[in-house]
Amino acid sequence: MKATIVLGILSVGLVLAHASSSGNDEEKLLVEKVIQESTKKYDERMKVAFLNGAQSKRNHRELKKSTKYTQEIGRISSIYLDAFKELINKYKVDRTSALSHLRQAQPAECEQEELGCDSASKYRSFRGTCNNVANPYWGSVNMPNLRLIPPAYDNAIDDPRGGIISTLPPSREITLKIHRDSGNDSKYENVATHMVPQFGQFLDHDITLTPVDNLACCGAAQPEGCWPISVESTDPYYGSSPIRCLDFVRSTSVCFPQAGIEHREQMNIHTSYIDAGMVYGPTEQIAAVLRTYRKGRLAENAQYPGFLPYRKEVVPGDESDGVIIAGDVRANEMPGLTVMHSLFLREHNRIAASLANLTDWDDEKIYQETRRIIAAEIQQVTYTEFLPSILGQDAMNNYSLALPPVTNNNGYTKYDATVDATIISSFATAAYRFGHTLVNGLIQLMLDDQIVGSYNVSDNYLVSNQIIENEHADEGQGVTGYDLILNGLIRQQAQAFDTVIHKDMSDKLFKSATFIGTDLAARNVQRGRDHGTPSYNAFRRFCNIPALTTWDNKPDDIGQEAWERLRDVYADPEDIDLYTGGLSQITVEGGLSGPTLVCIQAIQFQRLMQGDRFFFTHSDQAGSFTPEQLAALRSRTLGDIICQNSALKSTAKNVFQITSTENPMESCTASSRELDISLFAKDIVSPSTGAASLPYAAAGLTLYIVTLTLRLFI
Ligand code: HEM
Ligand SMILES: *[C@@H]1O[C@H](CO)[C@@H](O)[C@H](O)[C@H]1NC(C)=O
Ligand SMILES: *[C@@H]1O[C@H](CO)[C@@H](O)[C@H](O)[C@H]1NC(C)=O
Ligand SMILES: *[C@@H]1O[C@H](CO)[C@@H](O)[C@H](O)[C@H]1NC(C)=O
Ligand SMILES: *[C@@H]1O[C@H](CO)[C@@H](O)[C@H](O)[C@H]1NC(C)=O
Repeated sequence: MKATIVLGILSVGLVLAHASSSGNDEEKLLVEKVIQESTKKYDERMKVAFLNGAQSKRNHRELKKSTKYTQEIGRISSIYLDAFKELINKYKVDRTSALSHLRQAQPAECEQEELGCDSASKYRSFRGTCNNVANPYWGSVNMPNLRLIPPAYDNAIDDPRGGIISTLPPSREITLKIHRDSGNDSKYENVATHMVPQFGQFLDHDITLTPVDNLACCGAAQPEGCWPISVESTDPYYGSSPIRCLDFVRSTSVCFPQAGIEHREQMNIHTSYIDAGMVYGPTEQIAAVLRTYRKGRLAENAQYPGFLPYRKEVVPGDESDGVIIAGDVRANEMPGLTVMHSLFLREHNRIAASLANLTDWDDEKIYQETRRIIAAEIQQVTYTEFLPSILGQDAMNNYSLALPPVTNNNGYTKYDATVDATIISSFATAAYRFGHTLVNGLIQLMLDDQIVGSYNVSDNYLVSNQIIENEHADEGQGVTGYDLILNGLIRQQAQAFDTVIHKDMSDKLFKSATFIGTDLAARNVQRGRDHGTPSYNAFRRFCNIPALTTWDNKPDDIGQEAWERLRDVYADPEDIDLYTGGLSQITVEGGLSGPTLVCIQAIQFQRLMQGDRFFFTHSDQAGSFTPEQLAALRSRTLGDIICQNSALKSTAKNVFQITSTENPMESCTASSRELDISLFAKDIVSPSTGAASLPYAAAGLTLYIVTLTLRLFI
């Protein structure tokens, strides 16, 4: 069975013969010389920076958001971007010809490879390759982000919007004047529970992870890629400390240049698809580490069954202490997130245990079938419960995001092979960061309907298991911190959608005993500029929302207070950053984002449905579910999943909304809250395709030439 996976990612090296150009040998030599110079410059700068302690000075436990591959590619792309600028600026080489020479001179890491796809497999590859059979890299790991509108780099190539020495207001100033809670700004949503941001973050970690190197940027010599955030001595939080600079490293750039990409571009090292990648891991290697290879089960913590394993329990040679591991490196970022990972770990092992009981399947088959069900559940919760709460019903209809009701043998949707689901730059960089404003800094611990404690997010960054394991384990029979947090998340209101980001994140992000903290809001603004994200106004135009003209002309979709704050900071409405402008808008009816962010989010979620061959409601695909299975999955709610994997006695029907007469509490013991796993315990040949019965040899391997390049290692 292992062959299924390996087949999916099988790569056949293909060396593309570069036609040697005849006329401009001289130019070719020049290009080679310039690449050498840029390489020397880069390596020299890094050497000096590291001698000055750029890496060892790391003052807080940043999450490791890079891989060997991204580090290597980052070095190459920095060198090639520099060489390109030298060629066109200093040596006056024609732009087109510089690009073509640079492309031909690219190292093996950036070369084209071919993939053979087994299109009859009903299981996804871990890297997302071969989801689209004709374009096997679409939506897969390490792909460059897509753009809705061309980037707005200051020099049209790679300098941040506004320039390195910025003509735009400093990002910390934007936090202080617009995003920081000045003491009494915190408001709450009436309907949305704290599960909205919590599931939102968990889902984000399925679909986006933008790599960035771990470097200290506030030292004497800055390594390449550093673009730190400056802090004034008058700063109300950092001002009383010696801190005048916050670390910030620019996101890793993909190979430059590529077909259609003639600027700095960022990548996603997760698959774009909603495929439960944060549970299983973005590569075969990570997935293998998380498995037990017994009865389809994922590894659990040896000391605390039902919780994520410690790294050292599953990674050979790992010496970390008390650090948990999951399919996404950010799993221990904050306790509520760790709870979500634990919930789906339990759901996987619960379903796997039932399937093992009901069938004679081997480990691999149970694992893959369970993985398929888990991905379907996450898609079901996303499209049926989560998206309507953030986008509102209008956008659900306008963008065809509402799943069809299950009627007699129907309720299916259609896959569209022309849709590329790869993550859009402005979605990851700004629009889907909308959730940061909804996070409350104080998380309540609840037993039934009683508040039994609370904790500050800023006191619990990057701590692993304390809260979920034992801290409150004495609150009742079989009740752990996990249950209390989960219960709090579904009963506590979310903080309002507005410009305000709680201080636990806008001053004290990643605070620890030895680290004062950093500023998430400023990082979001700085990240947008780093990625060359066009202005807020450019996206208003893209989304057919009338553009801002002058400060005298406040649009109806921005409230008076938000407008005044914007005017206080930005010289010109055209300067407003997408993230900040997006949060300034009044929410759409029934949603939790303003119209510009909704527009970007809805486009992305439409692509993630239509362009995912394995989307759980699609018919006529190798991975399609039967009508009975689909009906069972379509009635599943996040509340049901919580009921079946925790000590909670009841939840609201829809846990994303505060309880009401329309959304009553339901007992967890009701049989309607169970998933009938026997429906999934049969080897059913997909009714419409019969593909599951095809022998592998007959499926055949087809080779596809792809235009973008990947190296298939972590
Ligand atoms: C306590 C809660 C949270 C914390 C501490 C947190 C922290 C962070 C941090 C540190 C980053 C990287 C910032 C940068 O340097 O660019 C980030 C990125 C991001 N966050 Fe959050 N976040 C939280 C909740 C959420 C929520 C609720 C959502 C959405 C509903 C969300 C969506 C995102 C997205 C889309 C990114 C970009 C990810 C990427 O492309 O790598 N986050 N967050
Ligand atoms: C609270 O809000 C009022 C009115 O908006 C404002 O005048 C006051 O300064 C605020 N208090 C703090 C501590 O920020
Ligand atoms: C397995 O089957 C036995 C006998 O029907 C049942 O008692 C047990 O609860 C089942 N276990 C699981 C995990 O479904
Ligand atoms: C949905 O479409 C209608 C009609 O075109 C439009 O008026 C409305 O603004 C749209 N709403 C959203 C949220 O897209
Ligand atoms: C949370 O932080 C606030 C402000 O620093 C502090 O007053 C409060 O005691 C903290 N709460 C808990 C539960 O630690």
